[in-house]
Amino acid sequence: MSTDKVLSSPSFTMDGQIRKLNGDGFNLYQYPDYETYKEIQQEGNRRKIDWQFVPQSHIALCAKFVEDTVGPVRFGLCHGTRSGAEQSWFSEALSGKPEVLGTEISDTAKDFPNTVQWDFHDANPDWKGKADFVYSNSWDHAFEPLRAFSSWLESLRPGGVMLLDHTAGHVARKANQLDSFGIKRGRFQRLLRTEFGATAEPMDPLDFTTANPDYPAHVLVMRKR
Ligand SMILES: C[S@@+](CC[C@H](N)C(=O)[O-])C[C@H]1O[C@@H](n2cnc3c(N)ncnc32)[C@H](O)[C@@H]1O
Repeated sequence: MSTDKVLSSPSFTMDGQIRKLNGDGFNLYQYPDYETYKEIQQEGNRRKIDWQFVPQSHIALCAKFVEDTVGPVRFGLCHGTRSGAEQSWFSEALSGKPEVLGTEISDTAKDFPNTVQWDFHDANPDWKGKADFVYSNSWDHAFEPLRAFSSWLESLRPGGVMLLDHTAGHVARKANQLDSFGIKRGRFQRLLRTEFGATAEPMDPLDFTTANPDYPAHVLVMRKR
């Protein structure tokens, strides 16, 4: 099957198995049903509830880029936020401490401020066209990544930016049942441009690998048209 078709077509397996699809530059896990996917994510969330993946130093760099690019921020969204650190770090780093909400699929969301229990694949009508920026380092937990990115872009106002971290942990071979999607950076850039170029303009990726050795990341950026 053509690999991009795998990314766009319904993704549940028909035989009750969890299966890894090997694509061109990416790997994607498929689940027998949504409940299995959600159960795996909730179990991973609870097991790692005290872990923090992204450091504050990276969020500070992203916040500066956002403010320099879009101007004053009134509302932002972060997706897959576990204990809610990144949304509070964004808010602190941005002028006027704007509202920044995080989504989290796990019911542990209720334990953390500014965190909404919400599956990030789903577009939230309350957020449509409202966000000045969307940020995620958790897109590799998507089982339908194109649906997730489409929902995130829908929540941006014209001129708003979507920031997606790409680290050594986001490459194809790192995909597993919990981190369901992994993709090479260049392939990821091409995919975003091909699938969403009409809605959002790809900007030059941010290279923070030297600026922040604590969290060597590139950040892929799409700006809503
Ligand atoms: C690797 S952790 C990253 C957490 C946080 N961003 C950090 O930097 O520490 C991924 C988080 O995304 C959550 N998640 C997974 N799938 C999700 C989904 N479909 N919608 C919302 N959150 C999801 C997981 O429960 C987990 O807490």
